[in-house]
Amino acid sequence: MILPQPPAPSPTALEGRQVVVVTGSTSGLGREVALAMGERGAHVVVHGRNRARGLEVAQEIQAGPGTASFYAADFGSLAQVRALGDALLRDYERVDVLVNNAGIWLTGNDERQESSDGLELSFQVNYLAGYLLTDMLLPIIPRSADSRIVNVASGAQAPIDFDDPMLERGYSGGRSYSQSKLAQVMHTMDLAEELDGTGIRVNSLHPATLMDTNMVRSAGVTPRSSVDEGLEAVMSLIGPEDPGSGGYFNGTRDGRAHAQAYDEDARAALRRLSDELIGR
Ligand SMILES: NC(=O)c1ccc[n+]([C@@H]2O[C@H](COP(=O)([O-])OP(=O)(O)OC[C@H]3O[C@@H](n4cnc5c(N)ncnc54)[C@H](OP(=O)(O)O)[C@@H]3O)[C@@H](O)[C@H]2O)c1
Repeated sequence: MILPQPPAPSPTALEGRQVVVVTGSTSGLGREVALAMGERGAHVVVHGRNRARGLEVAQEIQAGPGTASFYAADFGSLAQVRALGDALLRDYERVDVLVNNAGIWLTGNDERQESSDGLELSFQVNYLAGYLLTDMLLPIIPRSADSRIVNVASGAQAPIDFDDPMLERGYSGGRSYSQSKLAQVMHTMDLAEELDGTGIRVNSLHPATLMDTNMVRSAGVTPRSSVDEGLEAVMSLIGPEDPGSGGYFNGTRDGRAHAQAYDEDARAALRRLSDELIGR
């Protein structure tokens, strides 16, 4: 892992700036969110695996009113997620906005893939890595209504079978993506309850359908919406407007998630499973 490039700014350089962490900001939607927050004068933590693209985004932010640092971490390794969390705790006194956006859509070949931790890959990269990173950063997210956690989920959602959450039976790329995305929505609702009274707003969303990004193009699917559409939806949850907390949004409107998200027992089962998997 490369830590960090360029070096994290001193606490005085950050005074008056929002500190914004955007996972998966080397391309697509995350990149646009990172650039937009840079335009607002924020300090942006750019993240992804691709160092060249990450540094390019950080440099573009630095050329405007914002500042930025790039951190590399492969979410297919929980050790790398932990190292990222540790590095951010070392380098920053606070994180005002956390956008859990990094994600993969494994299409084309329906061969089940595992992370280096032996977990189903989409579950780990799309959901569990963000679960762990959020858990690590929570102590430095200010208890304030300006603090935001945004989980970039999707309208593609499938229920989690708690007898086979790693999809050892009946795997398909679509199912793995959809269950990981529902897990993000369930975690959001659960976390909002836990954070009730702290001021911190936590929401999830389906940004837009088939945006013109690498994810969609490399799946061989014709894009149906622009990244700007998804950007507008994410930015509406970052504020300054108050979106409330615990919501699931379809673009900029209130959305209705899969029924399992509203099942408290299922959410508790997911939390138990997630805590066990991150060794909490
Ligand atoms: N595109 C859509 O229409 C659509 C619709 C609904 C929801 N979404 C969600 O929106 C989010 C962004 O998607 P996108 O369309 O912008 O896709 P994208 O252009 O492919 O961007 C994905 C980002 O995630 C990072 N990433 C992928 N695998 C990673 C790994 N193992 N470890 C760390 N970072 C990783 C990538 O960085 P590196 O390659 O540098 O690692 C990249 O920055 C995803 O969560 C996706 O599920 C997208």
